[in-house]
Amino acid sequence: MSVTPPAAVVILAAGEGTRMRSATPKVLHEIGGRSLLGHAVETARSLQPERLVVVVGHGREVVVSNLELVDAGAEVAVQEEQLGTAHAVQVALAILDAPDRPLSGTVVVTSADVPLLSGDTLATLVETHQRSGNTVTVLSAAVPDPTGYGRLIRDGSGELLGNVEDRDATPQQLQISEINSGIYAFDAEMLLAALGRVGVDNAQGERYLPDVIAIARTSGHRVGAVQVANHEVLGVNDRVQLAHARRLMNARLLTDWMRAGVTIVDPATTWVEVDVTLEPDVMLLPGVSLEGATSIGAGARIGPDSSLRDTVIGENATVVRSHLVGAHVGAGADVGPYAYLRPGAVLGPSSKVGTFVEVKASTLGRGAKVPHLSYVGDADIGDGTNIGAASVFVNYDGVAKHRSVVGDHCRTGADNMFVAPVTIGDGAYTAAGSVITQDVPPGAMAVARGKQRNVDGWVLRRRAGTPSAEAAEQVLERARQIAGDQVAGEHAEGTAP
Ligand code: UD1
Ligand code: CA
Repeated sequence: MSVTPPAAVVILAAGEGTRMRSATPKVLHEIGGRSLLGHAVETARSLQPERLVVVVGHGREVVVSNLELVDAGAEVAVQEEQLGTAHAVQVALAILDAPDRPLSGTVVVTSADVPLLSGDTLATLVETHQRSGNTVTVLSAAVPDPTGYGRLIRDGSGELLGNVEDRDATPQQLQISEINSGIYAFDAEMLLAALGRVGVDNAQGERYLPDVIAIARTSGHRVGAVQVANHEVLGVNDRVQLAHARRLMNARLLTDWMRAGVTIVDPATTWVEVDVTLEPDVMLLPGVSLEGATSIGAGARIGPDSSLRDTVIGENATVVRSHLVGAHVGAGADVGPYAYLRPGAVLGPSSKVGTFVEVKASTLGRGAKVPHLSYVGDADIGDGTNIGAASVFVNYDGVAKHRSVVGDHCRTGADNMFVAPVTIGDGAYTAAGSVITQDVPPGAMAVARGKQRNVDGWVLRRRAGTPSAEAAEQVLERARQIAGDQVAGEHAEGTAP
């Protein structure tokens, strides 16, 4: 496809998006982990336009700061009052068309609320526009439910005449299924001239950009439409359409990943955001959500029911029913079921973080294990070390956090508290139930707990008549009988002739 890069792409993003009923401007709502605006900018950039202008208005501070994150090179035009899409384009042209550098060539206009538009489709629009000699080429689609969209009006021979908005359409025009996508390629000079002629004689009293189609045609210029698959031009005006667009985008991403060698057991319950990367032979089980800059190594198995954000998973690792944020899981490591890995959790190769274990800002060495019911915060655990069940790294003294170190090949007992800062040397053991407040030398066994004392017969005396006392009484009685029989037996032997 030979496309001359357009002189400019204008992205309209000034509207409030009233139908979203949201405190957040519509174009900042996200699908696939990227704002609607971000998707529009990414698609526009694929044309490599000389200039890219985003028209902002409603909520412009937050919209501009999002734009700076997604594309620092984009220019901003401010539409103070939202007087309509034609007015919004005029605002953009005011910065694009300068007396010393008049705008010429192709100008593409898109909306920030059409997130499924692909770069290929946009390139087809520009190519058709340039090849046909049109002054306006609009992307259209035949949709099953055209409610809310502008309808394209054609004459008996199929020639495009113009557009009528949903609210201005006659009952007959409402039957038309070919809609205006709100995405256009214009000849710059015609656009500059025609915009001045767009009126406000319509139901909303706004200046409609699609009116330019009829204005161009009645002044004798060529106009045309390119029909595309309808899901690509799905506009997002409310949260129902937002959910629909999100599911379609997800399905598109999952299809690409499956084609690239990823097994997805249940695409209906699997969500993968746009910046995630997956290697071949990754297996995603039902109920998995991969978010942000997550990447998964070859052969890893994730799920069921796990969410991973900004997390790196090594080859052949497994994650079962767990929540991971900002974590790094080494090759062949096992996580879960029911683990919570927080930012800075770095698990070495073949390590394990098991059931009901939370790990934050901590490292686990190669083959290290924290199998059950534990909190590991601000700790470095060496290679081959096993942390006993129900242990806590007590990292917070109420004011500051402190780090602890456990060496290589240690065996710590169940139910230990490691009161930070504390260091346990290589190969050391700790006894179950210990509260470790002092460093343990390499190879030592630390015992830090009260010594056990048994008060014999206490229950029989102080809880007499309870089932406990009766149970104890029975077993003690039996023991007394056995002891008595033995004594009698020894007697009998002793008296035998
Ligand atoms: C618009 C089209 C409609 C088309 C539909 C496709 C007009 C009048 N109608 O309708 O024919 O079928 O898109 O999705 O153009 N905006 C501004 N400034 C304004 C008004 C709007 O920047 O003064 C921006 C909005 O933020 C949005 C885009 O322009 O990104 C479209 O506006 P919206 O109100 O969503 O128009 P629709 O009713 O969807
Ligand atoms: Ca819209």
